[in-house]
Amino acid sequence: MTLIMAHRGSSGTHPENTLPAFAEAVRAGADCIELDVHLTKDKHLVVIHDESVERTTNGKGLVRELTLEEIKKLDAGSWFAKKYQATKISTLQEVLNLLLQMQYRGILNIEIKTDKYHYPNIEAALSEVMQSRDWPFTYWYSSFNLESLRIMHEIEAEAQLDLILKKSRAKVEAALEIDFIEGIHPSYEWVQENLAMVGSYPKPIRPWTVNLYQSMIECMDLNVDGMFTDFPEKAHRVRSRIKR
Ligand code: G3P
Ligand code: MG
Repeated sequence: MTLIMAHRGSSGTHPENTLPAFAEAVRAGADCIELDVHLTKDKHLVVIHDESVERTTNGKGLVRELTLEEIKKLDAGSWFAKKYQATKISTLQEVLNLLLQMQYRGILNIEIKTDKYHYPNIEAALSEVMQSRDWPFTYWYSSFNLESLRIMHEIEAEAQLDLILKKSRAKVEAALEIDFIEGIHPSYEWVQENLAMVGSYPKPIRPWTVNLYQSMIECMDLNVDGMFTDFPEKAHRVRSRIKR
């Protein structure tokens, strides 16, 4: 079965990587929820996609140059729709609390966003939070940055680690050779251009970002292990139709 993985939460219907988007992903029955983590200037793990706050808030500047207090003053919802103006950037802990409150039992895919800037010790900070207790859901780590996964493997040998790539053939091959890489998260374009390899690749493949009906159907026909989508509710409709 192709897992439905809510990309940045239900980011097609709610402001990406925010509590409303994650709550909606849980409500929609996503099998997996993906989020992106960065480190603030004062070393707090926060959930946002970009290195800068500009695109998804009313603020300016880089996450690594802002304190959590400064980040918490920003409006992370209005850019998407006015009714989300009270929405803030969340810490990872706040998202974990929401998932606990909502009794989420799926998978949490934490993307370590170190491909443009490698926050020193972000892996250790992340692992400390995730290993601080048992969770009623499963969690996986992924990254575009193989070095982050290598560091994470040293810290948390049992953790599931997936390598993200756009179309890099070198990464597709590296993932095959490195034992601690469980699977690959390539772009959907890579899947379309490498159909033969998709059928024979021995590790799980979970493409992003799959938003159109036709693309969802193709992923399910190819029986890829998962698909990241901004529209988990829609993906559920497609999957139940295919099952019938
Ligand atoms: O993990 C899949 C996907 O999230 C990778 O791309 O840029 O949306 O984080 P991006
Ligand atoms: Mg991501």
